Amino acid sequence: MIAYDEQHGVFRLDTPHTSYCMGLVDGKYLGHLYYGKKLSDMDLSYLFCPNDAPLPPSADPAEKGSFIGCFPAEYPTSGTGDFRESCVDVRTQKGQNGLELLYQSHRIYQGKEPLTGLPSTFGKNCDTLEITLRDAGLSFTVILSYTAFTDTDVITRTARMVNEGTSFVMLTRALSASLTLPDDGMEILTLNGAWARERHIERQKLSGAGTVIESVRGEPGHVMHPFFALLTPGTDQTKGEVYAMNFVYSGNFLAKVQRDQYGQLRAVMGIHPQNFSWKLLQNESFQAPEVVLTYSSCGLNGMTHTFHDFYRNHLIRSPWLHKRRPILINNWEATYFDYNSDKLLSIAKEAGKAGIEMLVMDDGWFGAHRDAPTGSLGDWVVNKRKIPEGLKSFSDKVHAEGLKFGLWFEPEMVSFDSDLYRAHPDWVLRTADRRPVMIRDQAVLDFCRPETVEYITESIAKILRSAKIEYLKWDMNRSLCDLGSAYLSQDQQGEISHRHVLALYRIQGKLLEEFPDLLLENCSSGGARFDPGMLYFSPQIWCSDNMDPMERLMITEGTALIYPLSTIGSHVCKSPNDITGRETPFETRALVSMLGNFGYELDITRLPEEERKMIPCQIALYKKVAPLIREGDYYHIASFRENHIYDCTEIVSKDKTKAVMLFVQVLSEANVRGRIIRLQGLDADKVYEIEGRRYHGDTLMNAGFVVERIKGDFRAKLFEIQESDSVSSSPRP
Ligand code: DGJ
Repeated sequence: MIAYDEQHGVFRLDTPHTSYCMGLVDGKYLGHLYYGKKLSDMDLSYLFCPNDAPLPPSADPAEKGSFIGCFPAEYPTSGTGDFRESCVDVRTQKGQNGLELLYQSHRIYQGKEPLTGLPSTFGKNCDTLEITLRDAGLSFTVILSYTAFTDTDVITRTARMVNEGTSFVMLTRALSASLTLPDDGMEILTLNGAWARERHIERQKLSGAGTVIESVRGEPGHVMHPFFALLTPGTDQTKGEVYAMNFVYSGNFLAKVQRDQYGQLRAVMGIHPQNFSWKLLQNESFQAPEVVLTYSSCGLNGMTHTFHDFYRNHLIRSPWLHKRRPILINNWEATYFDYNSDKLLSIAKEAGKAGIEMLVMDDGWFGAHRDAPTGSLGDWVVNKRKIPEGLKSFSDKVHAEGLKFGLWFEPEMVSFDSDLYRAHPDWVLRTADRRPVMIRDQAVLDFCRPETVEYITESIAKILRSAKIEYLKWDMNRSLCDLGSAYLSQDQQGEISHRHVLALYRIQGKLLEEFPDLLLENCSSGGARFDPGMLYFSPQIWCSDNMDPMERLMITEGTALIYPLSTIGSHVCKSPNDITGRETPFETRALVSMLGNFGYELDITRLPEEERKMIPCQIALYKKVAPLIREGDYYHIASFRENHIYDCTEIVSKDKTKAVMLFVQVLSEANVRGRIIRLQGLDADKVYEIEGRRYHGDTLMNAGFVVERIKGDFRAKLFEIQESDSVSSSPRP
């Protein structure tokens, strides 16, 4: 619900349990008033402290600068008196900057419109408010868009800038949203990491000037994630207030939480202004990507459940969303580049016998020289030395073993040792005619150039048309640098990173139009591009190259803080693990991998017989729990990251009739007794059965369930919890 109180100039957006309020001062300065628990009052304009100095410009024009300097601007600009972080700026033809954006008009409508060229959330259960702000001197307009959902506690925000002047302007900053909150001792939670250590949870007190979370790599990257949550002191899984922002975008981002001298926090999020500019001719507009905002008054669980439901119901479009994905075997860590069709068919044969449902042929099947990462990217034709029968007949053979077939691509990149590069050296990003800095011996294709985008789209489509291919893994193994395009004019070079992301979206959108049932899994050197933008196109993303189950606990914990388990690609690795060298039991590797889209990434033909025999049971168990994992409510009950001993995850069905609990004992301890686990999210009044014993929900949630002592490191046990249809063994008094 969205309302406007004309008398006091106040806007209020309500979701089921939250309110978001803004107001106008002097009828033209749009400021933030409140975000948090749902309120009853409409007129919150008193929160602007209208009688305190500095007074509004109408009352004290001489101190307009002081007013702007502390005003909680809803969409701050720079260059005109606000010296804090700003959302938007331009450079005019005269080379000057600065904007003064004042309220012009607004409109409220039912529903939500898609964003041109960008992924965005959707749904019917929502209302949208558009507020138009204008700099009259420059004839420059910004339309702020807010959508309040009525079925979930989410508000989405975006901004569109329009140049209505007669001469061009260079947009030099175009962030999507800003939020002002009281600075009352908040902590900030972020997801940080590195390759193979993606999205580890970090919490710290907001101090000093604040915190910056950013990427200028052309993708979100492994190091920081386009997300943060501000937490009131003492917040944990079940209590405390949480304000979170997540960015629906797959490129450079800046998120900054800044403390000002007036006891306010300003949080902004959007495309990173570094190396960014966008030339806007008369009547041209720029659409900023969407930000998802949520507030929870019941701790991190509340935030997590909102994000999971929101992304499942309002972002992911794939027809696979509510379907169990085929249990796959991927040959990457089984063979790396060293394979041919005989080898893969022997894997497919064993996999088929064990009940595995799809073979994914990873990197190495194409071009003339893909025996190492040094060549052939860009040459999307099958390598007849490795796959002599060609793709069609290879895929037929895989299908004859009872498996579906999937294929790996890395469409955004090119090797210098490739026919594509030899034919089109100008299709590569480079500056000053320098050889671009190589990462993994590959360069980045110039996606600003329409022929490049067309060539890549058509090369992939041609392969997909040529054989029965049910799954595509879209990889991207380097960050963007050497940002120079031979195609764009001198004053458009600042557009390259954003144009790259827009082209990526266009290609994936186009392919999915032609192949709507294709199961697309995005990937970027593991999980460097695991973001809501990519989830709009692919229902799942490869979460990390690190499949060591103990390490995966922390990666899954951070990822699942925002994203549903149904979006996480999760495979059973070999032991010892190639990255950590750790040896872990096969059973543990399988159980931990069940917290996501389950698969294997090992050479099944070389697996010891007793382990191979375990696979059908693992598959049967996964098939049984998969609907719950995919659709249920996720609770992270105990974190190995915090306690350094064990980890515990629980997933409860929406109707609370079923749950699963995965207990992982990372390190064994001497002289300890069974561990009491207090379950969450059950129905207090229902009776549940676990391993043949019955308990009331309130008993399990308050007194707890005992996980009997397990001896040994790296052990895991999965407990199935089922509502019992008869009376409890210990009836209520
Ligand atoms: C990085 C991915 O994360 C891996 O799964 C694998 O596909 C390799 N690239 C192949 O080069």
